[in-house]
Amino acid sequence: MTKYIVRQSGPLRGEVTISGAKNAVLPLMAATLLNDQECVIRSVPHLRDVQVMKEILESLGSEIEETETGEFHIHTHDVKSAEAPYGLVNKMRASFLVMGPLLGRKGIARIPLPGGCAIGARPIDLHLKGFKALGAEVTIHEEGHYAYVEAVAGPQGLIGDRIYLDFPSVGATENIIMAAVLAEGTTYIENAAEEPEITDLANFLNKMGAKIRGAGTDTIRIEGVKTLKHVTHTVIPDRIETGTFMIAAAITRGAVHIMNAVPDHVKPVIAKLRECGVRIEAGDDDIIVRGDLGPLNSTDIKTLPYPGFPTDMQSPFMAFLTICNGKSTVIETVFENRFMHVSQLNKMGASIETAGNRASIKGNAMLRGSQVMATDLRAGAAMVLAGLVAEGETEISEIYHIERGYENFIEKFAALGADITRVE
Ligand code: UD1
Repeated sequence: MTKYIVRQSGPLRGEVTISGAKNAVLPLMAATLLNDQECVIRSVPHLRDVQVMKEILESLGSEIEETETGEFHIHTHDVKSAEAPYGLVNKMRASFLVMGPLLGRKGIARIPLPGGCAIGARPIDLHLKGFKALGAEVTIHEEGHYAYVEAVAGPQGLIGDRIYLDFPSVGATENIIMAAVLAEGTTYIENAAEEPEITDLANFLNKMGAKIRGAGTDTIRIEGVKTLKHVTHTVIPDRIETGTFMIAAAITRGAVHIMNAVPDHVKPVIAKLRECGVRIEAGDDDIIVRGDLGPLNSTDIKTLPYPGFPTDMQSPFMAFLTICNGKSTVIETVFENRFMHVSQLNKMGASIETAGNRASIKGNAMLRGSQVMATDLRAGAAMVLAGLVAEGETEISEIYHIERGYENFIEKFAALGADITRVE
């Protein structure tokens, strides 16, 4: 089994350049299914999740050329299959993002639900509500060990309508936008997600000829078009990777210059780190983080949809709060059950108690190296951050989670002076 060994490393110092955003590139790749012309995506990070999406697109008929400079040339002359393979969908929840574009282009899409009906149906209800509003007939079928969702457009194809999302789901907003691009008439998504990745998707689609207005606000209007054209687009920088390195500078009491960042996309992380006593200077596309200029104090966090504090930064920030002076509270409102990292941090000497979606962190912990698990992608990053300041050696297993979503993770940390090794 592959593991990371993280040793106490002292203050991180130097420069780090942020990669293209995982959560932006996955929907962009899915969106290329709508277009029969070539789409060029630049600044694509080398990640497991990107490879899974690449294999899914290839299984549906896309031709993909990957250059050494991180460019993807994707050309889907024809969608050869409307069904994504179970073996790939099973590996990544974001696979479901191919449903909207498949339905939009082919009028039919079939996507397996990993884990079957009972687990699968609820977290995609808003996606399905959108497809139904556009006139698709949506059914869930059980076949052997798994279930799949089938959506079929009516004889006139999809038809624009008004859709209210009960929660501003990122994936549902993206899937509905993609389904609506080639639909007849105009679609309105109300209470839409406002994340920067949604705006990036709308920009990408508009460059290829779609007519989308209001992305980045809670109401998005998509006027259907008949055809799309060649597009070249550069993925936005990863705001979660940016936040992770900001916390790395803070927790190690270091000084890190973060390049290729969009400070506006990490406003809540900047605000919260400043409340804790971290000095931050934000430029146009860079951020300097100084954790070495004074005491680090506690604060309270509540995760919310964008522009609130991101749920993906919750576990890395909690790792930081364990060493701050005083008591902090973290409230998770976006996902149920996103405190799996708490037991792992406590194993390292943190003092965190949870009740429902609230975690109370005592602070001033003297963390010590121990054997812990990356329980998910961001929790894995939290373990590394804690390991950097823990006495001795921290052994982190299940690190494939980390490699799903952070490009050149070890190399970037090592360049700042972190002592992390990957062992088989
Ligand atoms: C995306 C991000 C993920 C991030 C999350 C929230 C990608 C690939 N992943 O995930 O990193 O943590 O946004 O910022 O972009 N929900 C429903 N029904 C639905 C859809 C969602 O109940 O049909 C619920 C989910 O169970 C969850 C909440 O809504 O509790 C947020 O989910 P959503 O915004 O859809 O997250 P993802 O798009 O899956």
